Amino acid sequence: MKRLSLIFLSLALPFSIMVGCEQSGSEKVDLKTRIDSLQNKLNSSYIPGTGAIMNTIVQPHHLKLWFAGQHKNWALAEYERQELMGGFEKIQKYHKDKPEATAVAMIFPAMDAVEKAIRDKDAAAFKNNFVVLTNTCNTCHKALKYEFNVIKVPTTNSFGNQSF
Ligand code: HEC
Repeated sequence: MKRLSLIFLSLALPFSIMVGCEQSGSEKVDLKTRIDSLQNKLNSSYIPGTGAIMNTIVQPHHLKLWFAGQHKNWALAEYERQELMGGFEKIQKYHKDKPEATAVAMIFPAMDAVEKAIRDKDAAAFKNNFVVLTNTCNTCHKALKYEFNVIKVPTTNSFGNQSF
């Protein structure tokens, strides 16, 4: 009896391993197909470059922040500050391997100072710190060899369809 079960085991074990291997083989193919399709999706997904983030997020919210502050519309100013911050965070998130992801930290002290001025509803501090913020935009542009992208405190409001 013992011998019989031993024979049975010696036959059944390799068979079950074979079946097992076959199963994991087809699972592997299945996984590979899924990985390939995810990779394809990833390759064709749109990740905005730093230039696009600057153009579509940073630049407009920098301008709106200024006009909200000028009108002492502190609720809107805080909203615009957060939107602007979102642009810088996207650079850190999507461009980890690029020099701008490291350099972007230079703007945070100025952003904090603007946040404090908004919280204190202090128009003079807002103005001073907005100038510091704007200078820091240019410090980063210079550091990354984009010194020809010169940012200034906005003079005209290009968003005529929004109340500030
Ligand atoms: C991390 C450093 C850094 C900081 C801080 C920074 N920028 Fe930039 N900015 C860049 C780089 C790099 C480019 C060029 C990106 C490219 O073209 O790929 C750029 C480009 C731009 C452009 C040109 C976009 C265009 O299409 O004409 C504008 C406008 C701009 N930044 C606005 C700002 C403003 C406003 C601030 C501050 C509130 C700011 N940037 C802060 C790095 C920075």
